[in-house]
Amino acid sequence: MMDWLSPDKINALAADPARCMPADMRVAVDPRAPWVPESFTQLYYTPLYRGLHFEHRLRYNQLFALRINEYIMMLEGDLIDRLLLPLMRHPEIRDDPALTRAMQTMLDEEKRHYANFARLNRTARPDLYPPGQDKLFSELPVWTRAMFVVSGLLVSKLAFSMWYIMALEESSMALSRSMQGERETETLGRLDPGFAEVHIQHMKDEARHIHVDGILIDLTIGRQSKLRRRLNAWVFEKMLHGVVTPTRGGSGARVIRQLLREMPELQDREEEMLSALVGLKSNRAFQESLFSRKLMPFSFDTFDATAELEGLGRTMVGYDRRAR
Ligand SMILES: [Fe+2]
Ligand SMILES: [Fe+2]
Repeated sequence: MMDWLSPDKINALAADPARCMPADMRVAVDPRAPWVPESFTQLYYTPLYRGLHFEHRLRYNQLFALRINEYIMMLEGDLIDRLLLPLMRHPEIRDDPALTRAMQTMLDEEKRHYANFARLNRTARPDLYPPGQDKLFSELPVWTRAMFVVSGLLVSKLAFSMWYIMALEESSMALSRSMQGERETETLGRLDPGFAEVHIQHMKDEARHIHVDGILIDLTIGRQSKLRRRLNAWVFEKMLHGVVTPTRGGSGARVIRQLLREMPELQDREEEMLSALVGLKSNRAFQESLFSRKLMPFSFDTFDATAELEGLGRTMVGYDRRAR
């Protein structure tokens, strides 16, 4: 088992405002700057990216950045609620007041994150996010919404979605770290400081959430029978398949379609762009940009420690299993 921070320690850190993302962040966003590092966007991994004009690459970068924020809002807002609330009543958890407090703080913080990212997107592109509309790219397909509901209903018995949440929270931290460390992008100039600031502040809370996730995984999956763990691993791998396979109907394709609407001169390249996107399924560099040990060391350590996840690399191409 990993050495997670104790719930008391997590609560003490969360009580220090200097270690928390402020509520109600307001930043200015420059429409001429890139908003995320290029390697966090999908088309970056396709050969056509470098052939696009600067203005096209820049607009794609910005649209994809909005989509990243929407994803953070959706997963941390919606999915975490569905998982943490039932887990607070779990027999291994409910009698630990420090832990349930840490979970409640996490839920409250995710609500603030949602509001901060929704505001950031609205500031960046008020035309795309009129008041009352927070989602443009992440309207979920029915099966994904159903999967969220089912994950919540199952979590007390099968907590596989906590592995997913942990990896996602760690990957949002990796994005923030990268924005903090390197302000200059490869081909688009300097990152927008306002956009970066929101992500850098977000990392403060996520650094604690990883520990809550780890503790919850140990107390649920970690205490189950081998058979139950094997079942968790099986469902997790099935679920990941959808995550690592870009489709023509998914959010990445919606970003491309929005780019074409905004820059109609690209319209005759729609098919080329969508095929390149779908082709990323078997692109190793792209797969490693989704899941890798560099991006998510805690999650990968947790996977390593779970014997039943031995075959995870079949679906999660970036997973390089290590003996522990
Ligand atoms: Fe968050
Ligand atoms: Fe979080």
